[in-house]
Amino acid sequence: MGPPGVGKGTQADRIKKKLNIIHLSTGNILRGEIETESDVGLKAKTFMNKGKLVPDEVLLDIIRYRISRPDCQYGYLLDGFPRTLPQAEGLNVIMNDIDHELDAAISLTADENELVRRLVLRGKESGRSDDNPEVVRKRQQVYWQQTAPLIDYYKKEGLLKEVNGLGTIPEITKRIMEALV
Ligand code: AP5
Ligand code: MG
Repeated sequence: MGPPGVGKGTQADRIKKKLNIIHLSTGNILRGEIETESDVGLKAKTFMNKGKLVPDEVLLDIIRYRISRPDCQYGYLLDGFPRTLPQAEGLNVIMNDIDHELDAAISLTADENELVRRLVLRGKESGRSDDNPEVVRKRQQVYWQQTAPLIDYYKKEGLLKEVNGLGTIPEITKRIMEALV
């Protein structure tokens, strides 16, 4: 978990190699659906381009299908999911059904100006359609309103690991690995 631009994708990509597990980014999955113009993609596009969250049912269907597949039976790292309380509760149900267990919930933190700076910079290079200043700010707002409550949720479950997301990329990876042991 963490606000847009905090480094979820960057760190997940490094951690998956260290732990030899699958990295599932719901943002990447949805962008893939948009590219192939699937029904899910067409539905998701309008929400994503406005910086809003795609409906919970859509995400829960994707996750149920994805984590039930054989490649996920030895561990996986969810990036950008869950993002709402119903998603967190839905994830519990799904994991129970297939006999999986959540080991940890990592919350990456950084200050807002740094986040906007990173994303506007990336927007210039990558051309991700939701990386313009206006939509970036909306995504930040949505994070604080809808996703930040999950920090308390996972704290109560005893699973929360808070990690400072400011610093160099390898420094942050090291902090996450230390938080996981
Ligand atoms: P998603 O794809 O998850 O995007 P996001 O949360 O907005 O976050 P980003 O991917 O932009 O940032 P990140 O934290 O991964 O940072 P990154 O590593 O890229 O979601 C997009 C949309 O999809 C949502 O708005 C929503 O509509 C929909 N969606 C997805 N999941 C959903 C869900 N569960 N429910 C409902 N809707 C959902 O790094 C950012 C930049 O910073 C990069 O350029 C990177 O190179 C740079 N950087 C990284 N680390 C550092 C560092 N330490 N120092 C300097 N620069 C750094
Ligand atoms: Mg990402």
